[in-house]
Amino acid sequence: MSGETGRTDPAEITEKTASSFDGAEDARLRELMKAFVRHLHGFAAEVGLTQEEWRSAIEVLTATGHITDEHRQEFILWSDTLGLSMFVDALANPLPEAATESTVLGPFYVPGSPLRAYGDDISEQAAGTPAWVHGRVVDAITGGPIGGAELDVWQNGDNRLYAIQDPEAPEHHLRGRFHTREDGTYAFRAVRPVPYPIPDDGPVGQMLAATGRHPWRPAHIHLIVRAPGYQTLVTHVFDRESRYLDSDTVFAVKRSLVRTFVERDADDPETPDGIDGPWCSLECTLALAPGTPREIADPGRTA
Ligand code: BEZ
Ligand code: FE
Repeated sequence: MSGETGRTDPAEITEKTASSFDGAEDARLRELMKAFVRHLHGFAAEVGLTQEEWRSAIEVLTATGHITDEHRQEFILWSDTLGLSMFVDALANPLPEAATESTVLGPFYVPGSPLRAYGDDISEQAAGTPAWVHGRVVDAITGGPIGGAELDVWQNGDNRLYAIQDPEAPEHHLRGRFHTREDGTYAFRAVRPVPYPIPDDGPVGQMLAATGRHPWRPAHIHLIVRAPGYQTLVTHVFDRESRYLDSDTVFAVKRSLVRTFVERDADDPETPDGIDGPWCSLECTLALAPGTPREIADPGRTA
């Protein structure tokens, strides 16, 4: 304050608040809180935030808290739909040019999927057009094969749902873990994924509707690829023919992750055993960056 009769400038409020953290012992916490206050106040100043808008924002945060529980994480959905999850992933996981790019984990990952054998089917009941997914896991720097790498895969079925969202589905439906063979090859049977909307019955859905955005994600299959001596890769591969590739509501599409599902007839000589109608194949090489594997935290959200 500049003297007893001086007026208080808004910028003074910002600096006074920011400097209230000067005594925080944890240097990183101090940095985070000071920058957070400056950006928060800067945002309010830039848009000339009204008291009514401030109250609406508090209501939105309150509703977000109310809908969030151990099955539904609306705060992460905000982060996803505001592009923050992808932004933080990009900051945290810089990768060499030749490595397969990463994307968000999403809310439908369930740890502890069953270990399945080369070529096994991850669908435990009918779920769409069969897809033979195959390829190699390689070192991004040398191009050499990585034997014994683990692929942890999950996807939705043609009812748009992940098994964890579908009370009718068996627990392990449309998910599984696979190991690469010595030459780095892997293969599994899946189904062609379909686009689906993210949970949009809460505050995030209201924001999407109010701003003229849609809740849809393009068709994709999720993968986590792990191997000793390599950075753990969290990614998806997208169907080149899918709708919404240009408008993914969580901004997770990267051009290099868009792949071709090749349509095949029932009489194709390469038809895998057990498939007796039209099917498709997806060749997908995955390149890992040398480094240290990391634990993938259970997102604890399934809505
Ligand atoms: C998903 O791909 O499963 C997903 C990612 C972010 C938000 C919602 C769903
Ligand atoms: Fe998904």
